[in-house]
Amino acid sequence: MSPAVTVEDIRKAGYSLEAAPPDDWRGYNTCDPVPGYFEFDWFSAYHPDLYHRFSLSTEGLMDELDKLVDLTDLVIADIGAGTGRAAVQASEKARRVYAVDAYRSVVEFGRDLVREQGLSNVDYVQGDAASTPLSDNSVDVAIHSWAILNHIEAYRILRPEGLLVSLGPTPGSLCGELTATLAPEYPELIRSVASPESFDPHCPPAESVLDSWGGIPLVAPASVRDFTYVTDYGDMTEAAAILGRLYGPKAKHYILDRAQSTLAWRLRITVARVAK
Ligand SMILES: C[S@@+](CC[C@H](N)C(=O)[O-])C[C@H]1O[C@@H](n2cnc3c(N)ncnc32)[C@H](O)[C@@H]1O
Repeated sequence: MSPAVTVEDIRKAGYSLEAAPPDDWRGYNTCDPVPGYFEFDWFSAYHPDLYHRFSLSTEGLMDELDKLVDLTDLVIADIGAGTGRAAVQASEKARRVYAVDAYRSVVEFGRDLVREQGLSNVDYVQGDAASTPLSDNSVDVAIHSWAILNHIEAYRILRPEGLLVSLGPTPGSLCGELTATLAPEYPELIRSVASPESFDPHCPPAESVLDSWGGIPLVAPASVRDFTYVTDYGDMTEAAAILGRLYGPKAKHYILDRAQSTLAWRLRITVARVAK
């Protein structure tokens, strides 16, 4: 196992840290001095294989986006692309996908994945969400999945009437159905908790609109869709290992006590057409 790399180390290394060997995160134990729970940039940069196993809710978001927006033959930017869950799914219909992430290790993980899957229409590029290496008016859709949304930069790269897309949790659902369990332990991070009913797989979707979004001009109000999605991590031990490493021992015990490998999420898709 490689020596422990702290969150501080990754900050000092800027965007150029090497990833840990695959499965290195499994050797972690809860007595380690720097647990780094909730440090998602650190997880995706230092343990991209762990982040990739975890990021299944992004598949649910992309499946739902597919019902709302036809990506066929479009040029897509996936900003804060991480290990490629959204980019790979978008590539099934898109003409080209530019997957942009700040961290070299994540970009390398994504490039390997894309190569292994034989995808010739995905370009992984290293860049910051605030100043991407993409030209003005060059993309039809800018997707931000569980990632920083810099409205001004997204507006710059979108063509007139291009689509700005944000994918992530609804308020109070930062950790899906685990949110209520973890809230007392992480009061600085979890400030609201959605109702238990919203994590019921039968909870109906909800639609709303946003009249303004990040101060950029829109053709019409942004549409917002909330829906419930159940993710299956394969088996209970795997789910406990993944969620325990990311969120801490309470999450691990929650999974083991329930003896299930699933987690329900209440997810939100926000889509708007930009006016230029
Ligand atoms: C929570 S992950 C989401 C990954 C992916 N979009 C998904 O849905 O699975 C956030 C990603 O944003 C990247 N990131 C963080 N800060 C960034 C920045 N300033 N510019 C670009 N990417 C950034 C991180 O490296 C990480 O891979």
